[in-house]
Amino acid sequence: MKEEIELIKEGKRLDGRGFDELRRIKIEVGVLKRADGSCYLELGDNKVMAAVYGPREMHPRHAQDAKMAVIKFRYNMAPFSTDDRKRPGPDRRSVEISKVCREAFDPVIIRELYPKMGIEVYVELLQSDAGTRTAGINAASIALADAGIPMKDLVSSIAVGKINGEVVLDLNAAEDNNGEADMPIAMIARTNTITALQMDGRMTQEEFGRGLKLAMGACHQIYELQRAALITRYNQNYESKREEK
Ligand code: CDP
Repeated sequence: MKEEIELIKEGKRLDGRGFDELRRIKIEVGVLKRADGSCYLELGDNKVMAAVYGPREMHPRHAQDAKMAVIKFRYNMAPFSTDDRKRPGPDRRSVEISKVCREAFDPVIIRELYPKMGIEVYVELLQSDAGTRTAGINAASIALADAGIPMKDLVSSIAVGKINGEVVLDLNAAEDNNGEADMPIAMIARTNTITALQMDGRMTQEEFGRGLKLAMGACHQIYELQRAALITRYNQNYESKREEK
């Protein structure tokens, strides 16, 4: 059995956060010139770049769907994003995370509008500190909107977990590595619709319920930040176009 490491001191976590506090979030929209949509996002010490291409003709042709667009989602951790250099290229973990992230967008992307086309989403982790899939989903959601992909809504994502017997929001790497449970969640905040949920470790039913509530509250906060970042970006575009005239 794992020896318990002290992650909570005098009711605070080691980075000074309360149990229900998010890490700092920074969002920049439209940062890549060659992508149709892009977003740079920081969630605490996670740094992620998301780029979207499409809708465009899907290759190879046999992978096309005659009725709707196919979403390709690639999550990748840069070799320099972790403590020990990660081996470049896909591994089991990144294949699994790419699939989970793609499925988190299934209920929102209106794929029927683009038969035979492909929409490519790339999520590159430049620096990782746990919760990278949630940071990736938040960034991808904004990059998809920036690319003008028709969506019913944005998807927002965060993890909750259990450390030293307490249910806490948004675990950092020290908490994730030494905690009892980690549960990343993605949802459509406005309708409280969960589009992805995973669980690593164990929680009681009561802790699960509390965790879910914490995550839902945080997704509402993240949704507002995502919306605000998109609005800021498009106001800027509007202002600079007016100045050009
Ligand atoms: O990042 P996320 O919490 O979504 O996924 P995880 O598989 O639970 O990984 C937790 C953290 O472990 C990552 O964010 C990285 O900080 C670290 N990790 C790493 O350093 N090297 C890897 N090959 C995989 C994960």
